[in-house]
Amino acid sequence: MAATVIDGKAFAARVRGQVAEHVARLKEESGIIPGLAVVLVGEDPASQVYVRSKGKQTVEVGMNSYEHKLDVDTSEADLLALIDRLNKDADVHGILVQLPLPSHLNEDMVINSIDPAKDVDGFHISNVGLLGTGQKSMVPCTPLGCLMMLRDHHGSLSGLNAVVIGRSNIVGKPMAQLLLNDSCTVTIAHSRTKDLAEVVGRADIVIAAVGRPEMVPGDWIKPGATVIDVGINRIDKPEGGTRLVGDCDYASCAAVAGAITPVPGGVGPMTIACLLANTVTACCRAHGLIEPQGLTA
Ligand code: GUN
Repeated sequence: MAATVIDGKAFAARVRGQVAEHVARLKEESGIIPGLAVVLVGEDPASQVYVRSKGKQTVEVGMNSYEHKLDVDTSEADLLALIDRLNKDADVHGILVQLPLPSHLNEDMVINSIDPAKDVDGFHISNVGLLGTGQKSMVPCTPLGCLMMLRDHHGSLSGLNAVVIGRSNIVGKPMAQLLLNDSCTVTIAHSRTKDLAEVVGRADIVIAAVGRPEMVPGDWIKPGATVIDVGINRIDKPEGGTRLVGDCDYASCAAVAGAITPVPGGVGPMTIACLLANTVTACCRAHGLIEPQGLTA
């Protein structure tokens, strides 16, 4: 039977709709408008595209967007001073510093200077620790989006075997933690994993987050498994030009899987939707108001 295609684009539109509803209610009942500050250092073209898209979608759901574009050679002291101002600004409920940063800036130091309550990326060491101990935290956006789609598809994830391929701080590790918190049996596989095909073949849920185009073939996938493809890789087409592919070979995986996310149109759109969700969550927590249901872990 053909795999169910999990439509991340439609799912993200639903999440944005829920965020917009909550924002409208906040405005009406409390006069509060959630605000998201995005900081971009330098002119990396991919980062510029992401930041523009974040700003546009923030405004579309009715929130305030504050963009701070800094010169590529901005000093660490100047960047930290800006973050300090944003931490103290009551109109700013979420702060995101676009990564990667230029190499002269210490990413860990910068991220850990953000107020954890405003850390809508969920990268601050306090949020990492809270997530790791199953406490209320800000949850990284891409893994949160994957979790929402998995819960929607499966209902309960309890007892399922999940294999996360990739151990990044942004996706692999928090994803594994979220799945563990939902009572999956979790394996984190990576570049040194022995017999990856055998490990992946045991999974009811496969999360591919390695950044290697089409590295997971369909014959690794257990029939009926759910495949969540986090990869977004641009490859050359034989006839010229480029196309986007995931970390999984879509055609062969879709032939075996029970459900699969496409690339593009799968996990990708969920990341910004979850960033907006995290911002409204952060705003509600800051004001001691009821958080939106279903928009966080
Ligand atoms: N660069 C690529 N993905 C992300 C993300 O999720 N957050 C931030 N801050 N930077 C990124």
